[in-house]
Amino acid sequence: MDKPKVVLGVSGGIAAYKACELLRRLTESGHDVRVVPTGSALHFVGEATWSALSGNPVATEVWESVHEVPHVRIGQEADLVVVAPATADLLAKSAHGLADDLLTNTLLTARCPVIFAPAMHTEMWEHPATQENVATLRRRGAVVIEPAVGRLTGVDTGKGRLPEPGGLFELCRRVLARGVPAAAPDLTGRHVVISAGGTREPLDPVRFLGNRSSGKQGYALAATAAARGARVTLVAANSALPDPAGVDVVPVGTAGQLREAVLKAAADADAVVMAAAVADFRPARYAEGKIKKRESREPDPIALVRNPDILAELSAERARPDQIVVGFAAETDEVLANGRAKLARKGCDLLVVNEVGEHKAFGSAANEAVVLGADGTEIPVPYGPKEALADTVWDLVVGRWRDAAVPQSDQM
Ligand code: CTP
Repeated sequence: MDKPKVVLGVSGGIAAYKACELLRRLTESGHDVRVVPTGSALHFVGEATWSALSGNPVATEVWESVHEVPHVRIGQEADLVVVAPATADLLAKSAHGLADDLLTNTLLTARCPVIFAPAMHTEMWEHPATQENVATLRRRGAVVIEPAVGRLTGVDTGKGRLPEPGGLFELCRRVLARGVPAAAPDLTGRHVVISAGGTREPLDPVRFLGNRSSGKQGYALAATAAARGARVTLVAANSALPDPAGVDVVPVGTAGQLREAVLKAAADADAVVMAAAVADFRPARYAEGKIKKRESREPDPIALVRNPDILAELSAERARPDQIVVGFAAETDEVLANGRAKLARKGCDLLVVNEVGEHKAFGSAANEAVVLGADGTEIPVPYGPKEALADTVWDLVVGRWRDAAVPQSDQM
């Protein structure tokens, strides 16, 4: 099989150096990458670097190798175009269909999925001109991810960083895997909130009650949603996983902190997915100082109090009437019967039921599940990567939004 053809567009921002690492990951994983920098990008990273890392010629203008008609051919032949970093200027040109160099021409001729990874100062990102350009590009079907928050050029910090190359690479891989026309970003314009990881309930400054959740399923839900165009808030409890590209990550520790962060983000969310393993109980008392063992005495029992059930609360008090709420359940026996009872008890729209066993659920990269619907549906998801289960969950959520949008008379 031919290698997938990727165009890596690079516009003139300091984050161009991170695109070198993205390029390396793409070529090493078997992609044929053609780098198309803008003239300004070459001020940051030179042509020799792009050419050596890609193994392909590099041009910025339409006047080079004119006989090959590169301004049309590169875009036409691409399976994916990713622009990283995308400056405010590049986004503006692309939103308005300008074509004054090879990259902007390529963006006009490409019919494959297009990803823009913006990077700029916070003020430039927040400016209404940039926001309107981003909205235009998203409406036309491009995946424009949210920049990361953190250190910017100079001493500034804020929203505007290019996400790390590993996350960008995963995003490219996901969008490519969905292919055309499935890659049409069907979550564009939606805000989704996902909780992931496992909460820790402190006993004293050094000990906690926790669980074995790695966060992988919740992170897969966040990464797949971003690849499908959503604005994603990931409330992450104690996970060691890297931030997925284009996702706003809110780190939390305890069930109480997770509840606060999820309820706040859910206020304007189209869907909330509770993939976190939330502690049902927490120690009744937190010891300010480390609990000592005191050899002469038997240990004191640990008294517990119940934590609020966040999923039940979200389901009962929907921030919006059309909000879809999804829960997860890990069961060891009577999987379907327990799942049905839990779905009814919690009041959510969908419940993803995992059977906990060897190589499944906790810590593993793969999962097998049944997705139960409040409408009585039962969708089995065969053993496979957690990303496949995540995509099935989003397919079901999108289906429910679609059904809800159909007027009653049309449903007859
Ligand atoms: N959950 C929650 N708040 C809690 C506990 C759990 O929102 N305090 C959510 C989890 O994120 C998950 C779902 O509820 O989406 C199922 O959690 P689980 O602990 O299995 O449900 P329980 O009702 O506690 O059932 P069990 O008796 O099996 O523990």
